[in-house]
Amino acid sequence: MNKIIVANWKMNPQSKFEVENILKGLSIFTKNLNNIDIIVCPPSPFVFIAGKVKNKKIVLGSQNVFYEKEGSFTGEVSVSMLKNLGVEYIIIGHSERRILGDTNDIVNKKILAVLKSKINPIFCIGESMRDMNGFYLSFIKEQIIEGLKGILKSQVKNIIFAYEPIWAIGSNAERGAVPQEFTEIRIYIKKIISDLYDIKTANIVRIIYGGSVNPLNAESFIKEGGADGLLVGRDSLNPKKFGAIINLVK
Ligand code: 13P
Repeated sequence: MNKIIVANWKMNPQSKFEVENILKGLSIFTKNLNNIDIIVCPPSPFVFIAGKVKNKKIVLGSQNVFYEKEGSFTGEVSVSMLKNLGVEYIIIGHSERRILGDTNDIVNKKILAVLKSKINPIFCIGESMRDMNGFYLSFIKEQIIEGLKGILKSQVKNIIFAYEPIWAIGSNAERGAVPQEFTEIRIYIKKIISDLYDIKTANIVRIIYGGSVNPLNAESFIKEGGADGLLVGRDSLNPKKFGAIINLVK
């Protein structure tokens, strides 16, 4: 299976000119790539522009979506709108969206809506802090069980699970995670999926890591941590750094 590298640009950059520049800057790194899927998730207003920059190696993604099909939902974006622009992956349940009100129930509705349209959800989970008693594990378990309500075994393989511990995200992060911490959660997620569905399904699902991924630690999460890919924030806005991450995974 191909490794996945996702660029989550968050609420950046501020102009379409910069969008084009970042993507053009990436083109030298994406040449001759065939074992990695690169997914770029720009802010909604820039999805169209990003899709116009010709690069067959880059797949379009979105940072969010609304679960209703259409209608009176001011400010929201539907799955069909994104699909119409060529979006193939949608990040759901990012911790920064959960802070703004996305509950496990909303996350579940979004995953269901996205799967129905044959788009791949990138389902984010992760605790805000670790405790000596392991209560963070039940928190993660609840996020997974509630997020997957009503999702069939045949659909789970299309979901990419992204483990993003909140304490390791952003420039104010307490500290970065280490590959062993990812491995522990990776095994834990597989166990939960195996209990909910079966071992075969647990073996197939892809689990990626996000939280201060940079050119210095990217390789270790794949090699030592066993990650199927990476979800990159800050460093995905810098073509040289993001390109270096691509090269390391390659
Ligand atoms: P940073 O890579 O900036 O820590 O962001 C991680 C993230 O939230 C990606 O979704």
